[in-house]
Amino acid sequence: MRRLRIDVMHGVNLDQIGRRDPQHYGTFTFTELEVRVKKFARELELDATFWQTNHEGEFCESLHIAAERADGLLLNPGAWTHYSYAIRDALELAAVPAVEVHLSAVDEREEWRRVSVIRDLCVGSVQGKGLDGYREALELLKVGMTEKRNSA
Ligand code: DQA
Repeated sequence: MRRLRIDVMHGVNLDQIGRRDPQHYGTFTFTELEVRVKKFARELELDATFWQTNHEGEFCESLHIAAERADGLLLNPGAWTHYSYAIRDALELAAVPAVEVHLSAVDEREEWRRVSVIRDLCVGSVQGKGLDGYREALELLKVGMTEKRNSA
């Protein structure tokens, strides 16, 4: 059986971690995040691709064709999480298991960050655990993808 493929999708301003508030986002760079997440994925025997965009339409277009390239999605859409119904609609269309992940504890920050317009479409959600949260999110995603594969 072939390995499960996952797409790790990052949205607006995530390429700037390392320059953003270290209290919320740590001091590591986006490249360091990529290296760690790919290592977690390898350990879980998942094939991972990793990318980021600051353009909402590009994020949506990628979701339109997500099912062609991935069995599951790990999503950190950044601030779009809190208000982008365009991304929500595109995720619904993608119809692949997805897990939402945030470096910071969004539910404990400003009121507007406590809203996620994608959470109810996801099989799991992890927040406030920094880099290690990505490992937990990948584990949740693997369970979701395996359940989907077994029920097909
Ligand atoms: C974030 C949380 C968002 O509220 C914020 O806009 C981000 C990053 C996180 O990973 O903690 O850009 O998604």
